[in-house]
Amino acid sequence: MNEGIAIYPGSFDPPTNGHLDLIQRGSKIFEELVVAILRNSEKSPMFSVAERLEMLRALTADLKNVRIDTFNGLMVEYAKSIDAVCILRGIRAISDYEYELQMALMNRKLEPTLETVFMMPADKYSYVSSRLVREVAQAGGPVKGLVPEVVEQKLREKLDPAYRFHDENIVAAPADERKSDRKTSDKKRKKKA
Ligand code: PNS
Repeated sequence: MNEGIAIYPGSFDPPTNGHLDLIQRGSKIFEELVVAILRNSEKSPMFSVAERLEMLRALTADLKNVRIDTFNGLMVEYAKSIDAVCILRGIRAISDYEYELQMALMNRKLEPTLETVFMMPADKYSYVSSRLVREVAQAGGPVKGLVPEVVEQKLREKLDPAYRFHDENIVAAPADERKSDRKTSDKKRKKKA
């Protein structure tokens, strides 16, 4: 266990199973892990900061050395303000490396005392990203297994109910289809009788 506070910054829009996997791994090797949600992102987010905060708090409630917070402006400034000694970031595939390297070196330039530590999430999550989860969910596809259940539920609530999730539990045929199915089986029953 490493002494001191580590910060795991990100957008978490929404939190995925990959994020959660990394938080769990990080919580085992750092004394305290602060998951920090960026507030002033240029992107227009799907979930508000308050929603992301709530989801992450629920997801990490059983991890006693994990705290969820938000920050504005430079991440290294926020890290210094909470006395963090380390930045935790995840690398899924080689394609993440260039961006992460650039960010780590820029952060080192801004604050040389802060080290960035990279960890790999479980390989089953190596293709999972918040952006793809949003894309799949917005197009009505299943996100089961990619995000925690609480996030899956929030995605359902957020998206237009007209979108259909194809999970085995929720195959909601439109009302018209159901009506015509009923009519056909009624006719069949009458014929048989
Ligand atoms: O989940 P993301 O979008 O990959 O996280 C990126 C994040 C939030 C860690 C990064 O954009 C960030 O730290 N932004 C805060 C502004 C900042 O400090 N920029 C300089 C970092 S090179």
